[in-house]
Amino acid sequence: MKDLTITAIIKVYQYDELNEADQSLMKTAMEATARSYAPYSHFSVGAAALLNDGTIVTGTNQENAAYPSGLCAERTTLFYANSQYPDQPIKTLAIAARTEKDFIEKPIPPCGACRQVILETEKRYGQPIRILLYGKECIYEVKSIGDLLPLSFDASAMEE
Ligand code: THU
Repeated sequence: MKDLTITAIIKVYQYDELNEADQSLMKTAMEATARSYAPYSHFSVGAAALLNDGTIVTGTNQENAAYPSGLCAERTTLFYANSQYPDQPIKTLAIAARTEKDFIEKPIPPCGACRQVILETEKRYGQPIRILLYGKECIYEVKSIGDLLPLSFDASAMEE
């Protein structure tokens, strides 16, 4: 028996420490929360994706009375970006979330399904997606989804 140790590198920033481009992308994600449709959870999530060519697309969570029919902001954004700009890999994905009161204190953790879709998107384009997670306390940055999804499943597992 032996232990397998998996490490993740997460950089922790104050908003002011982000460069101008990242601050602006994060602001775009924060503003997007206003366009969320979240009548059930009252938890509004916004995401902004910076594509290789500089285009920025946003998305929000879209809920449904049949709860599982709704979709998270991250997947809405990735699917929209990949539908509209299938030739453009995503460089950076900024995510922010708020309750009716205010933005949340701790960096927003993407759900497992969204992590899986981010992974597929990285594999599809052969390029890591840098992720910025907003919290009022601090912002997390990871260079790739691998830091949020260790021991991940992708198509390579099905190859012989
Ligand atoms: N949600 C997201 O959009 N992204 C996340 O990272 C976590 C959760 C949404 C799904 C649902 O509309 C609401 O937040 C509460 O779970």
